[in-house]
Amino acid sequence: MTFGDSFENVELSPYKWATHMDKFEKLARGEDVFPVTVELDLVSYCNHDCGWCVDPKHMSHSLEREFVSKLLHELKSLGIEGIVFKGGGEGTLHPSYAEILEETKNLGFDVGIVTNGSKLPELYEPITKNASYVRVSIDGPTLESHRRIHKSNDFNDVVAGVRKMIQLRESPEQRHPIIGLSFAMDYSLIDLVGEAIKLGDTLRVNYVFFRPPFFEEAGRKNTMTVGQKRELLAAFEKGKKAYNGEMKIFIDYWISDGEAEHFVLRGESPRRGKYMQKGANGIEHITGRCLASPLLVVVTADKKMYPCCNLRFIEEWSIGTLDYERGNTFERIWHSEKRREIMEKIHSIKCIRFCTHPMSKYNEVIEYLRSPQHHRGFV
Ligand SMILES: C[S@@+](CC[C@H](N)C(=O)[O-])C[C@H]1O[C@@H](n2cnc3c(N)ncnc32)[C@H](O)[C@@H]1O
Repeated sequence: MTFGDSFENVELSPYKWATHMDKFEKLARGEDVFPVTVELDLVSYCNHDCGWCVDPKHMSHSLEREFVSKLLHELKSLGIEGIVFKGGGEGTLHPSYAEILEETKNLGFDVGIVTNGSKLPELYEPITKNASYVRVSIDGPTLESHRRIHKSNDFNDVVAGVRKMIQLRESPEQRHPIIGLSFAMDYSLIDLVGEAIKLGDTLRVNYVFFRPPFFEEAGRKNTMTVGQKRELLAAFEKGKKAYNGEMKIFIDYWISDGEAEHFVLRGESPRRGKYMQKGANGIEHITGRCLASPLLVVVTADKKMYPCCNLRFIEEWSIGTLDYERGNTFERIWHSEKRREIMEKIHSIKCIRFCTHPMSKYNEVIEYLRSPQHHRGFV
């Protein structure tokens, strides 16, 4: 086996960012860069209704086919490398979804997909063919719990769709897509961690990913006490320890600002203790800035551009509206005065109350590059 045989060593490598060292160095020098990845929301509506959804609101926008094409061509010409169809709603509901995936892939982009999986029984073929990764948000791992969390009645369709993708990927030369199941679980689901692992293992997905949901940052009411969250993380860990199959199990140890505050008030450092790992609530709190934001941008289904996935659909954080008829191209908005103003606010984390720290790891690299590089001579 060579190093590159294992998807853990390649696709899921913690060093993946190193391929973009040029951009990190520019950001550390205070220069601007075009994004590596664009999150493109094809629609702003969803057929599920999760109570803690990070998308602040669902509406009725759907991007016109021709606009998507123009945008993809422009993004290609600017050197953007990956397109993620993920949020703002449920992208697979777009009437031209399969065709758009095909076009995106044919233009040479890497394609990432996050979906609730409800349309997989119809779309598994184009998805399996074109995506580098597919993450299916299941959350409730049983028919009843899925219905309760997603307020939908399609658990069996989701599972059948995942099974079809796995079957289609069976041939040895088909490395992609990496397929994972994600479980955002609150305390009400604590007894179902084992079921979630069993589901992933039975379906033979590459990984399952557990995380407690974000609440306050997404404008949602917290359903758990700090103690319950600790119990939940312990249950994730226990499940992971007890599992000895091939699938990977990931746990997100992210802690909210409210939670960090709780530990500070009790005289405990939020950075100490079993579940308070380094960086778990963001280097941005230490440095007071976010410099990595340009690496990713969001285009929502109403053609607005946002500088962070946590700011999606928060009007005052929009950097502009794409309109090819009026010459408002991605490039023009990127270099606009409006974006400069918004980036100043991002640099000084005026957006911190919405922040779930998606850029923390990259900010750590940039901050390191900005620091005087003592001991450079040693490895
Ligand atoms: C908002 S959804 C949009 C895409 C698609 N509709 C889906 O369900 O995957 C994107 C991802 O965010 C996750 N998510 C939603 N609300 C969350 C929250 N409050 N905390 C953490 N993850 C959340 C979902 O489980 C899903 O994996």
